[in-house]
Amino acid sequence: ALISSLFATSPMQSVKAETTSNTVTAEWTRQMAQNFERTSENTAPEIDADFKVVAEDLWIWDTWPLRNRDGSLAEINGYKVQFALTASKDYTWGGRHDHAVIRYFISEDGENWEVGGVAYDPEKAYGSRQWAGSAMMDDSGKVTLFYTASGRKENETAQNHFEQRLAKTELYMFEDNGEFSVENTGEHQILAEADGTYYETQDQKTGSIIYSFRDPWFFQDPATGEEYILFEGNTAGYEKSLDPSNIGDEEFRATHDVPEGSEDFNGNIGIAKATDKSLDNFELLPPLLEADGVNQQLERPHIVVKDGNYHLFTISHQFTFAPGLDDGIDGLYGFVNDSLRGDYKPMNDNGLVVANPESDPFQTYSWAVLPNENVISFINEFTDNGEAIKGGQFAPTLEINLDGENSEITGVLNEGEIEYPETEEDTTPAWSADALEEYK
Ligand code: FRU
Repeated sequence: ALISSLFATSPMQSVKAETTSNTVTAEWTRQMAQNFERTSENTAPEIDADFKVVAEDLWIWDTWPLRNRDGSLAEINGYKVQFALTASKDYTWGGRHDHAVIRYFISEDGENWEVGGVAYDPEKAYGSRQWAGSAMMDDSGKVTLFYTASGRKENETAQNHFEQRLAKTELYMFEDNGEFSVENTGEHQILAEADGTYYETQDQKTGSIIYSFRDPWFFQDPATGEEYILFEGNTAGYEKSLDPSNIGDEEFRATHDVPEGSEDFNGNIGIAKATDKSLDNFELLPPLLEADGVNQQLERPHIVVKDGNYHLFTISHQFTFAPGLDDGIDGLYGFVNDSLRGDYKPMNDNGLVVANPESDPFQTYSWAVLPNENVISFINEFTDNGEAIKGGQFAPTLEINLDGENSEITGVLNEGEIEYPETEEDTTPAWSADALEEYK
């Protein structure tokens, strides 16, 4: 990284001083967010126009596999499970966000996926539609599905249509004699709402791009066992005037122009701590990382820990970079630190980890890095022989090597393929009949 927090008293510091060390907020500064370039290390190959279609009649986009409490990939007696945002193709490509429901997909080989039903009772779910999240199966076999409740089911207005709250529900998934089934009539609960202090509310928003309080991602810190949800937020309470620390060091600031309106771009990576193991109660903490003056949307944040390095990933768009940051591209961005909180450094100098090819800069989106260094995403929009194609299916998986501050794409797998570890263990979760009876 260009800036070091070792100089705690210098204006070059990239960490906002906070009262205790575990509330430090790292910064992605305008100085860091420069010179994004496609290279052989970060650029995915072009999509094959003949891509695999998992569900003919559905648009599929943001996707996440079922994981165990420690973040490893979960299986249910050999069955692999993914969740994804879906909408009927009766809706337009652009209109799909307004009709999103979370469906589950199952596979026996981690490559050929079969579409299942909606992962919950849509009548009971919060929001007029449900946006991205994460899913965790605990030792009892109970699956907690975290999601974004977008809008309101009742009394929805144009104003609260874009409201976002972090929510969860619980379900059970079974394999019995080769039959996969789901018990998913559980209650739903709102876990967190934008507080207006750390996290901007819709009312506090300025600028033209949608605000964010979405995409909850469950994370158990291996160092402490403490549990969190990470999410996409916007910074509140800074009165829309940028600190020098959002821009860069003194030398950079001397020549760098910050166009008016940049202060409206205030994306951050939010974090809330579970106050107990029930995961019913969360406390909002100051953001893990902020991009005030840099980018409006740090979407679907998640962490992969490798060799003691905490790799913090987020996806972002070209159009959500602040004015004057003209090299920004639709991509996967990463930051690295030696613990959960601290002075995260952008990987590969400016943060760019995965890009689409120049010829089709929007061909895939919503990358998620799994603990096995597979990177999943969905096929977005691309052109083939001059024809504009909307994908809406699983994209080819990338294999990536995370090496401290550096990363490199090392291979490409099939659409939706995930390399599950070979396991001799019995992966049947320990459901108890009593727990299930109680659930029902
Ligand atoms: C990313 C995203 C998420 C959101 C979803 C809405 O692709 O913008 O942040 O949950 O799409 O469809």
